[in-house]
Amino acid sequence: MKVQGSVALVTGANRGLGAAFARGLLAAGAAKVYGAARDPAAVTTPGVTPVRLDVTKPEQVEALARELADVTLLINNAGVAEFGPLLSPNATEALRRQFETNAVGPLRLTQAFAPVLAANGGGAVVNVLSVLSWLTLAGQSGAYSASKAAAWALGNALRQELKAQGTQLVAVHAAFIDTDMARGAPGPKIAPEAVVSQTLAALEAGQAEVLADPVTRQVHAGLSAEPAAYLA
Ligand SMILES: NC(=O)c1ccc[n+]([C@@H]2O[C@H](COP(=O)([O-])OP(=O)(O)OC[C@H]3O[C@@H](n4cnc5c(N)ncnc54)[C@H](OP(=O)(O)O)[C@@H]3O)[C@@H](O)[C@H]2O)c1
Repeated sequence: MKVQGSVALVTGANRGLGAAFARGLLAAGAAKVYGAARDPAAVTTPGVTPVRLDVTKPEQVEALARELADVTLLINNAGVAEFGPLLSPNATEALRRQFETNAVGPLRLTQAFAPVLAANGGGAVVNVLSVLSWLTLAGQSGAYSASKAAAWALGNALRQELKAQGTQLVAVHAAFIDTDMARGAPGPKIAPEAVVSQTLAALEAGQAEVLADPVTRQVHAGLSAEPAAYLA
């Protein structure tokens, strides 16, 4: 799809990668960018139209899809990470919270906006996933990884369903991105702007997936290695 002239809705647009998406879309010539956040007053990027959205609240998602009838590009960016071992007693509740935000949220948004995208000529959906859709940081990311693996699988299924109405779905996988979520994490971090530019290029090129950095590309290549990356 063409980014220039598009009307985008970015979830979690108040900070981190979502704010970078909002800036990058405007710089690339988007006609309008709706920046969704739980607190719309926190969306301060000039030129971005703030809207209220908690992705775990179905009534808010449905109301927004009725209100924003001009959207052609949905960026499912909002996410949470709660790290800790799966054998800890509170892991089940942490898993539910991360599933609601990271997997059910994007599904709910895609369901609600699919008719809007269809009415506007097809457009596209971007799902921000992770290298942790494919592997787990031992004792830490079990629940987060499960939520991102679920979001990946849901996106793969939705891509096929959306094809019938001419809607592209791009899955974006990255290792550490330099945002609040990865604060304190060791090792290299990709700049959010670099994730955004690769995603916009993938949209323009009609690609299905972005492998944003060397670690992600290495893990992806290692899925069929012996032993597979997720067993190493
Ligand atoms: N940072 C990384 O290393 C990394 C790597 C791979 C993938 N990702 C993914 O990239 C995406 C963006 O994360 P980030 O790095 O920018 O993290 P971040 O700086 O922590 O930002 C997370 C964003 O999601 C929003 N959010 C969380 N729960 C929400 C909800 N229920 N409804 C609406 N918005 C909600 C937050 O809003 P509030 O300000 O209201 O909390 C915030 O805007 C996420 O999907 C994350 O999983 C991040």
